[in-house]
Amino acid sequence: MTVPLPPTPVLETERLILRPLEARDVPAIQRIFPQWEVVKHLHATVPWPYPDDGAATNMVQCLEDQAKGLKFYWAVTVKGSDELRGRIDLWAFDPERRDSRGFWLDPLLHGQGLMTEAADAVTDYAFRTLGYPWLYLTNSIANRASGRIKEKQGAVPAYVEPHGFVSGPGERQVWLLTREAWLARQPV
Ligand SMILES: CC(C)(COP(=O)(O)OP(=O)(O)OC[C@H]1O[C@@H](n2cnc3c(N)ncnc32)[C@H](O)[C@@H]1OP(=O)(O)O)[C@@H](O)C(=O)NCCC(=O)NCCS
Repeated sequence: MTVPLPPTPVLETERLILRPLEARDVPAIQRIFPQWEVVKHLHATVPWPYPDDGAATNMVQCLEDQAKGLKFYWAVTVKGSDELRGRIDLWAFDPERRDSRGFWLDPLLHGQGLMTEAADAVTDYAFRTLGYPWLYLTNSIANRASGRIKEKQGAVPAYVEPHGFVSGPGERQVWLLTREAWLARQPV
């Protein structure tokens, strides 16, 4: 059971503007997303090799989910330009869901703490504005950068399970981040 979400809000961080994903973002996604560095640790449901209409097809699904209030999709933009450089998603709260947030970023921008910033803004929105009690989060065990972002947020490892990735079968780490753990880390 999930409660439909409000419209996706604009979130601002020190260096980023997270704005709702729009159909006009398709060309940027089609240009940035189909890179091995971006897709290798993602779910095996991502088509690979990535088709020429991959971003357009996926966009239809995203906008449908967003319109139904099932999921938030933000375009990650760097202040000074409105162009999409990555994406971050958040599902409506569902106690059964084990994979509540997803993200990817243009490899040209990796290693600067940008997705940490984006994930912190989205997580704060989930806990403080929407009042989620917890988030279950996942990543391939091999995806150290993604795991580190969760660890820095106060998530604790819950369990490991087999999972299919674009790069083949592997294991995924499931993490639990509670509202209490998140709030305890925030400045008063
Ligand atoms: C995961 C991803 C979004 C991270 O974006 P990013 O902006 O580079 O991440 P940040 O710089 O905010 O933080 C990464 C953290 O991981 C650490 N890290 C990066 N590579 C690492 C590695 N190989 N081993 C250990 N830690 C690593 C960084 O040092 C940083 O931690 P720190 O702040 O303690 O130094 C980016 O790598 C990406 O788009 N990957 C492809 C898509 C993907 O895998 N998405 C996640 C699916 S679960």
